Formats: sequence, structure tokens, C-alpha cells
Amino acid sequence: MILTNATIATMVNANGNASFGLVHNGSIVVVDDKIQWIGKSSELPSHWRSSEESLNCRGRLITPGLIDCHTHLVYAGNRAREFEQRLEGATYEEIANNGGGIVSTVKATREASVEVLFEQSLPRLKQLMSEGVTTVEIKSGYGLNSDDEIKMLHVAQQFADEIGVRVSKTFLGAHALPPEFHNDKDGYISAVCEEMLPAAYDAGLVDAVDGFSESIAFSVEQMDRVFDVAQSYGLPIKLHAEQLSDLGGATMAAQRGALSVDHLEYLKSTDVGKLQNGKTVAVLLPGAFYVLRETQLPPIEALREHHIPMAIASDCNPGSSPVTSLLLSMNMACTLFRMTPSEALSGVTIQAAKALGMQDSIGSIEAGKQADLVMWDTDHPSTLSYHIGLNPCTAIMIGGNWKKHP
Ligand code: NIG
Ligand code: FE
Repeated sequence: MILTNATIATMVNANGNASFGLVHNGSIVVVDDKIQWIGKSSELPSHWRSSEESLNCRGRLITPGLIDCHTHLVYAGNRAREFEQRLEGATYEEIANNGGGIVSTVKATREASVEVLFEQSLPRLKQLMSEGVTTVEIKSGYGLNSDDEIKMLHVAQQFADEIGVRVSKTFLGAHALPPEFHNDKDGYISAVCEEMLPAAYDAGLVDAVDGFSESIAFSVEQMDRVFDVAQSYGLPIKLHAEQLSDLGGATMAAQRGALSVDHLEYLKSTDVGKLQNGKTVAVLLPGAFYVLRETQLPPIEALREHHIPMAIASDCNPGSSPVTSLLLSMNMACTLFRMTPSEALSGVTIQAAKALGMQDSIGSIEAGKQADLVMWDTDHPSTLSYHIGLNPCTAIMIGGNWKKHP
């Protein structure tokens, strides 16, 4: 397949505030599942010029497939009642401490069969994909016992197998304290380390291990125990850190070589340098910032200064971010966090790929990478962050296969 006459945002060398890596009047040659060649149409090698499988893009924009690198999209039920409670003045922490919050989704998720969980979660995945998402990270964390965590990860794997989207599966056993362990966080962490993570790993369903370090969840020391086990299996780690308060989780995770530290509203600018290790990505989640009506901004300027890669994700979940739009998340990153449209697009492509450890195969349009491409009915990539509610996605290719035809 040869795509010609396209405006291509390659996102190569699109670090931080740099450009979109734009190629005007460009062509992309796809062979099997990979990008074989990308460049100016005028420089397309002659043996590809008369291909029957060529598609004239008429100047439309092509970007890498979008990557939503932080979601909790597999869950049952919803928390609309808590949304109402927050509007009446209750805080996210108060609701959690009164037995609502994550634990109420745990109840609904435990009660749901695999089939029900698949059926209830699929519309969220489809909505993300309709806006150009070709890779999605999906966390467990609403099962909080071996069987139900595995059930969630199994549904995530089914999405990969049956829908053909790329899925990165993250074990998030240390998300909240399940009711049966009341007042025994250390005991629960022992169960995570000795039973749940080993069981999920043995089931072949874990690509990375995450946790929630927060007073309503687990301490930095407790997360350290979970990461000891994860790293003993050779699994990459990530952490929800500094979302509601500053416990120092981001520094701990970065010092252990985490793929990402996520949220970061309460990370101090003066601590950002401690994240610098040439690897760890700051995953920013403006949907949760917006929904919780947070006012404390993540330290964007310090992250820029220290050249920490910044990714953006939907954080799709029933509590703090009932968001199924990565385009809206990009707009919020620009409007609320003052990120630039090129930071936003690199945040859902190449930087998001790094946050999943997948940057060698996806995230930019380069020869040798997977042919995960999105065609947009627009001529400039900044429009993707600019519109609110308009979806200009006209075609989606994953691994060389059209998921949505042009
Ligand atoms: O990323 N912070 C913890 N976990 C989710 C919220 C999950 C929930 O409220 O159900 C988050 O914001
Ligand atoms: Fe999250």
C-alpha cells in the first residue's frame, strides 16, 4: 500500500517543544505490517510509483496511530452518583474514605462476568479508537484479588485478540485496599506480592506493574515492596504519584528506572530533577485534573527544563476521569496545562510509546516501525488539539491493516 500526496506529521525528533517532524507532499510505503519507506512524494523510488495499491491522500494529514498510555477502561458500572456528591461539595478523598470511590467500582467489577465486563467496556474502547487510538494501555485494579484482577486483564487481552487494537496490560493490584483487608494495608500488600502478582504473571497477562501511592491508597514503602517483586520478574514498573499530595513516589519510582510516573500535580518543581534518568516519562492526565476541579498544576515548566519526556493520556476511569477522548485530553493539556499542540501530539504518540516501552516499534512514522497510521481531514496537526468535539479522523491503519477505511 502506498499513500501519496499526504501531509505527514512523522513525530520524528518531535521531542518536547520541537516540531511535528512535518513532511509536505509526502508518501508512505507500507509492506506487510511495517512502514517500508517515508519521504517526499517526489523522491519516491520509481519501482513504487506505478503501484496499483496507491491512495492519493489529497493533502490530508497523516499521523502515527494515537497511543492512550494510561487507562482503566475495563470496569463495570459507573459512579455518576459520586459525580453528584462531588458537585454537592464532597471531595474525592472523602468519598473514598466513606467506602465509595475505587472500592465501589471493585464491587461492581467483581460481580460482573467476563462477558459482561467485555460488553460494558467495549464502547469505551471503540470511542477511543474512533478518534485514532491504535494502542491502548489497560490497567487492572478493580478486582483486588487474584481471580478478579486476572479477569480484568483477560478482557484487556480479548480486546487485542478480537478487536485488533494493540493493548499493553498493566497489573494494578496496589490500587486500593479491598474491604476484606480493612486496616491492614501491609497484609494486603503481602497478598499482592506473594499471590496476586505471581498469579497474574503466570497467566501471561502482565506487561507492566503499576500502583497508587497516596494516603488513600499505599505508602511509598509499600509500593517499593511491590516493585521489588515486579523487577524480580523483569517487569517494567510505573506509578500513580503525587496526584493528591506529595509523598515522594515519583522520585522513588524514577530512581528504580520506572517507565513512567503519572499525574504529578503535587510534584515540587525543585524535585523534578530527581526524575531525570534518560528514561522515565511524566504522564500527565488533564482529564482527572479537570474532573476533580484540581487547581494545583503539574510542574510543566520544570519538566520542560529538565527534558523529562511528557506524555498525555485519558486516564479513562469511572471516578476521576470518565473521559473516552484522547483528542479532548490533548485540548485540555494545552488549555489547562499550557502545553503546546506539538507537545500534545508527541504526548499521545512518541512519548506515550516510551511510557509503554514500545518506542522501538510504534509512536512515530519511520521506516522499520509498525504501520500504525491515522488519516485526518485536516491539513495541520495543531488542529487536533484545537477543536473541541470535532472528530476529523477519516482512516485508521493498525499493523498495515485498515481498521477504518479511507
Ligand atoms: O488514575 N488515582 C487512582 N486511580 C485512578 C482513579 C480510579 C478511580 O477513581 O476509579 C486515577 O485517577
Ligand atoms: Fe489512573
